[in-house]
Amino acid sequence: MEIRIFEDAASLGLAAADIFAEQLKKNGASVLGLATGASPVPTYNRLIEMYKAGEISFKDVVTFNLDEYCDLPKDDKNSYYTFMHENLFNHVDIQESNVHILDGNAEDTEQEAAAFDAAIKAAGGIDIQLLGIGNNGHIGFNEPSNEFTTGTFKVKLTDSTLQANSRYFDENPMPHYALTMGVGSIMDAKKIVLIATGPAKAQAIFDTVKGEVTPLVPASILQKHPDAVLLLDKAAASLL
Ligand code: PGA
Repeated sequence: MEIRIFEDAASLGLAAADIFAEQLKKNGASVLGLATGASPVPTYNRLIEMYKAGEISFKDVVTFNLDEYCDLPKDDKNSYYTFMHENLFNHVDIQESNVHILDGNAEDTEQEAAAFDAAIKAAGGIDIQLLGIGNNGHIGFNEPSNEFTTGTFKVKLTDSTLQANSRYFDENPMPHYALTMGVGSIMDAKKIVLIATGPAKAQAIFDTVKGEVTPLVPASILQKHPDAVLLLDKAAASLL
């Protein structure tokens, strides 16, 4: 794992955006794995700026999002579909047909999950996967458990995640289930960029970097990835 430490979330966002921009300049038809949450917002803001400056294009880019809530209308303000459109897709030239976000309202979630994994494979795999990390060490919605997950599946969210994310849910109650790429799907990405900011992530980052590889800290598996880079602000890196 490569570890890079930044003064603050803004400078970290610039560096993360640079990694993605380099990839898009190298291959305009790149396959990107994308994440939601507060962490990637500065990265997306910078990518939008670069697009508007004519430095990069998303015209032929294909995207797969890590996860989506179950039982939440697609256009709810807290759906990850809405998040991605508001924070990135609506501001760049991506083709909607190249955007893949799990349907958390699918009747047959197993089939939805299998189709998603098949679509990643058909696209040639993910070139770069962007990741946040939960306070409990989760990646995507792969919560601490007794074994590492493999492909995309339906997960019951833990209390830690419900607590961390419930602040956004002031109208509808927060869903207790989600569809998420599995740890195996994430590890299949050719490159992984994990971003973490703020003191609440410090313990999870310590466990990820210095602890043993264990499904109790799902992000610890990144120690075994051949090309994983962790971009941290000083607060998230404070226990290293
Ligand atoms: P956050 O979430 O970026 O909103 O902190 C990260 C995560 O839970 O994966």
